[in-house]
Amino acid sequence: MKALAICGSPRKGNTEAMLKRVLDGAKSKGAGIELIRLIDKNILECDGCSGCEGTKSCRISDEMPQIYAKVMDADALVLGSPNYFNNVSSLMKKFIDRMNPYWQDKRLQGKKVALVMPGGYSKESIEKGMRAFEEFPRICKMQVVGKIGEVLENPNEARSNEKLMKQCFELGEKLAG
Ligand SMILES: Cc1cc2nc3c(=O)[nH]c(=O)nc-3n(C[C@H](O)[C@H](O)[C@H](O)COP(=O)(O)O)c2cc1C
Repeated sequence: MKALAICGSPRKGNTEAMLKRVLDGAKSKGAGIELIRLIDKNILECDGCSGCEGTKSCRISDEMPQIYAKVMDADALVLGSPNYFNNVSSLMKKFIDRMNPYWQDKRLQGKKVALVMPGGYSKESIEKGMRAFEEFPRICKMQVVGKIGEVLENPNEARSNEKLMKQCFELGEKLAG
């Protein structure tokens, strides 16, 4: 089985640390793993042409087709985004919007997904952000196997939080199980 992590943080901080630990857990159960940092990819915004409603593919020429292929090939996804204004980051939102060719058909249905979201302010703020994040798998009828939101501000905080790292590892085990 293959587990693919997609990181929506522009920095090497909490989101990436959480995702890597989830992947460690999946790997411990025999999964092949890969992490994509959206900041490193040339991904343009959806321009709303709606061509994908008919073609079920996107006409924009950038690095997104490689990511579509990896998403389709993966048995499980782990999506990570920092909480920005009680929502996902613009990087993650750009990825989600570009998944529009896939939302109406069966290609994503039932695919396992886990969500992680650090936020600097409060549990309440993270809950709001997580609710927004969950809309993507809900609309695509994916199978959410777990989610972790945690109050973290400093970019090194996640990796030194043993309890959180254990939770992330266990989520990865569950994702690959
Ligand atoms: C533009 C921006 C908006 C943010 N908005 C929120 C917010 O609404 N709620 C919250 O809890 N944290 C907010 N934060 C804090 C980040 O979510 C927090 O620092 C998080 O740990 C960053 O994750 P990262 O290290 O993976 O980038 C915001 C940070 C930035 C830069």
